[in-house]
Amino acid sequence: MIRTAKVHVWLPDKTSPVLAGDFTHNASARTGTFAYSPAYLSTSHPALSPDLPLRTRPVSVVGGTGIFPLFLDAGPDAWGRHLLARRLEHDVDEMEALTLCATDGVGNIALGEITEERSRILSMDEFLTILGEIEAGTVIASDLEAQVLDAVQNGTSLGGTKPKLTVSRNNIHYLAKFPEPGDSRWLPHIESAMLKLARQCGIRACESEVWHLPGGQRSALLVKRFDRNTLEDGVHRLGFVSAHALLRLDLNPPSTNETLAFATQGFSLQSLRKSYVSFASDMLKWCGSQAIHREERRELWRRIVFNALIRNTDDHTKNHGLLCDDMRHQHWRLAPAFDLVAPISSTEHCALAMAYRYVPAPRRGKTQPPRLVTRVSIDDLVSAATEHYGYNQAEAKEYLCYAGNQVANNWEAMMADEGMPADEIVRFKGTFAFASSMNG
Ligand SMILES: Nc1ncnc2c1ncn2[C@@H]1O[C@H](COP(=O)(O)OP(=O)(O)O)[C@@H](O)[C@H]1O
Ligand SMILES: [Mg+2]
Repeated sequence: MIRTAKVHVWLPDKTSPVLAGDFTHNASARTGTFAYSPAYLSTSHPALSPDLPLRTRPVSVVGGTGIFPLFLDAGPDAWGRHLLARRLEHDVDEMEALTLCATDGVGNIALGEITEERSRILSMDEFLTILGEIEAGTVIASDLEAQVLDAVQNGTSLGGTKPKLTVSRNNIHYLAKFPEPGDSRWLPHIESAMLKLARQCGIRACESEVWHLPGGQRSALLVKRFDRNTLEDGVHRLGFVSAHALLRLDLNPPSTNETLAFATQGFSLQSLRKSYVSFASDMLKWCGSQAIHREERRELWRRIVFNALIRNTDDHTKNHGLLCDDMRHQHWRLAPAFDLVAPISSTEHCALAMAYRYVPAPRRGKTQPPRLVTRVSIDDLVSAATEHYGYNQAEAKEYLCYAGNQVANNWEAMMADEGMPADEIVRFKGTFAFASSMNG
């Protein structure tokens, strides 16, 4: 089946989108082409991203689903698709998800017709009214958040698996994240505390707060949307690309030959592509300058260290991304850190979701194969800092010491500040044992 969808973009400082061009998708061939519209090209608007250069000839994408990864980022993940499928009463494919879902996806791109229904953002008060109405009915309490969000007709295009929704307060847009049935009710508090702790460690992290819902027992995490800016006449949007899209991880897994070739070296080509090391180097094309690239690689290393300190092993490629800082010059920087959660853990060792260090085979002698390091150790973190992320050894050690102290000395107080009771906080002692061992 061949389908064409309009691609809209929010340009710098504009609060309504313009038509950038058309995307044509051939589902059976798994190919797609994007062509800028003549009107867009003639008004010297900026390119959508470094891999969609301004030109009259269409740009093609081959492999994966045949949809530009940048466009996929604008669409929903498991949660948004679940809502859409429920509303349409049938499963949705990628193109349907992209063109029919709410236009609140991350970034500044929306595919398909932009209708009022797709663009509707609930205010917090409207949300609470719907919540109250549902509660007054016969809804099963444990599943309330999911049902409230289902009741909100247009759903969400924000990625991730947790129930979530965009809500506005004083015209500022927030991402509201709800614990799933089965999650700890303290999850919003933990995540908010970790985002604040990250900022104390010199990391650019999202602004967050715990949102107490009526009834006293339930809460959600409110995170200010980093890709939305409120201007006098509305809300402006900034471009976003996930590390997953940037690294083209939508492509099929490597062929058997590749897998076999790398099996002898202890890792696959896919795990090398899906690593902090590749992300740090492939960012260059998006950062647009050596100076920005250097700063962002250093910031990435600080985030690796922080994830290690709080034992966050959910640091996968959709939990990292770049935000477009300057569309005209195509300067992209790491988006503020998000989805930072400390698990309850007592294991001595932890491994991050992506490898943060690559150790090539020694030139002479084939006895030692190359290695990809995911397991956390101070030595590997310091070596990685100098090899891949633009730090020198002394600076790296100094930062590790600083961040270790910040985490060890403040995690309990940060959780308490968010309203967690002492008997819940104490359960995290094992999690922070690593940070505490560096403290002193
Ligand atoms: N503050 C934010 N502003 C805009 N988009 C965000 C923000 N935080 C997260 N996102 C986007 O929403 C997606 C889901 O958020 P995340 O916190 O990762 O939820 P989950 O726990 O369900 O994975 C992310 O992958 C990212 O694309
Ligand atoms: Mg996530």
